Amino acid sequence: MSDILKNGEKWFDTEGNVLHAHGGYILFQDGVYYWYGENRLNNIYVSCYASTDLVHWEFRNHILTTDSAVQGTRVRADLSLKNEKGGKVNLERPKVIYNKKTKKYVLWIHYENGINYHCAAAAVATCDTPDGDFVYHGSFRPYGYMSRDCTLFQDEDGSAYFISAARENADIHIYKLQEDYLNIARLVNRLWQGEYREAPAVMKKDGVYYMMTSFCTGWAPNQGKYAYADSMEGEWSMLYKIGDKTTYNSQPAFILPITGQTETQYLYVGDRWGGEAYHESSYIFLPLKNHQKGELSLEWYPEIEMDAAKGSITGKE
Ligand code: DGJ
Repeated sequence: MSDILKNGEKWFDTEGNVLHAHGGYILFQDGVYYWYGENRLNNIYVSCYASTDLVHWEFRNHILTTDSAVQGTRVRADLSLKNEKGGKVNLERPKVIYNKKTKKYVLWIHYENGINYHCAAAAVATCDTPDGDFVYHGSFRPYGYMSRDCTLFQDEDGSAYFISAARENADIHIYKLQEDYLNIARLVNRLWQGEYREAPAVMKKDGVYYMMTSFCTGWAPNQGKYAYADSMEGEWSMLYKIGDKTTYNSQPAFILPITGQTETQYLYVGDRWGGEAYHESSYIFLPLKNHQKGELSLEWYPEIEMDAAKGSITGKE
């Protein structure tokens, strides 16, 4: 395999199996990129793959399944990993960050009961290793607010934020997490009221925070937008368009900074959803460009050449 990825095509792990890590997140830890994402096959909720070059992905583990160990923490939560009909619940958009103080890998995810879409809750799980069997700590609504599409953002000083769509997706909430990342400390911001943004993805460059989101149209892609702020808790800009009117047929999953020997570039990872044919969903990787404060742009390339060591992401026609 070359180091070229073909956007929107089926990607395979190093064993030749289709890579299922939808709505996911990449954590860079000790020289390894861990890609976590949804895998709705059989009893699986979240799968984890590992890579050092961002192109060749080794399957590591199904880190969260219907059979995962369950343990309540001090958060009063619903601990069930199956619904009242005995079926799977719906766990979407898993994100994992590492807590240096507790030495735990902490996963946050959107929870629905698999029967309807009314739970609108957040769920938490932890593990001592990045790709081990995560222990599920249950789902709850932050301060009682609805919480659907979500992401995590870990700042340079170790502060972490859980960001999710609230009020039937009308608004985006930013919550600061407690020091151990297991619960919410404060609701620090409520953004873009009534704009119905979802699929939040955050990056920080030169001290400025950028958030990409999509509009709410189910599995169908729509115009991506971004905004920026000098602080997570401060005033965010208005929403500005980015990419084309379908975000190149994708919805944001996350943004990964890739710091190599020579440069840092920002990788946009989008889900190209298969809709009803969920397991036909694929991914697109594109370089996000930022030349001046407040400006973010995304161009389409059918192929991407990755050089993680250098930190370069090159679009190819
Ligand atoms: C859009 C969300 O962003 C996805 O995570 C998923 O929940 C779909 N809606 C389901 O329609």
